[in-house]
Amino acid sequence: MASLCAVDDRGIVGMGRVVGDGAFYLFVVDLIVHPEQQHHGIGSRLLAGLEAEATRISATGTLALVADLDVVPFYERQGYQRAASALLTKPLTPAH
Ligand SMILES: CC(C)(COP(=O)(O)OP(=O)(O)OC[C@H]1O[C@@H](n2cnc3c(N)ncnc32)[C@H](O)[C@@H]1OP(=O)(O)O)[C@@H](O)C(=O)NCCC(=O)NCCS
Repeated sequence: MASLCAVDDRGIVGMGRVVGDGAFYLFVVDLIVHPEQQHHGIGSRLLAGLEAEATRISATGTLALVADLDVVPFYERQGYQRAASALLTKPLTPAH
């Protein structure tokens, strides 16, 4: 639905995407900053930009994401709260 890149004079140093159904549920995925460029505010600015895109797409939807446990503090700093829900996954297999 929306993708953002952070660029410096050497090339792309970060990226992130918003995916979803365009109405009720939107998800931040693939937010990543080059290891040498982390802790300079790039991730926060990318996330703010993705939130602006999500709001443009659906101002009344819910924005959600799945975070590795070690980066939960990054998202909490940006106002995200842990949900009570459990993450359930199921690998898909090709139909025969
Ligand atoms: C998470 C990530 C996108 C943050 O990007 P960033 O540009 O470093 O973020 P900012 O500089 O805007 O904010 C950094 C702040 O977030 C928090 N933070 C970031 N990474 C953290 C970590 N691994 N553990 C704890 N806090 C973290 C800290 O408060 C940090 O503040 P500090 O720089 O004063 O220490 C980046 O660390 C990254 O790409 N990590 C690897 C991929 C990843 O885990 N992506 C998220 C998928 S869920």
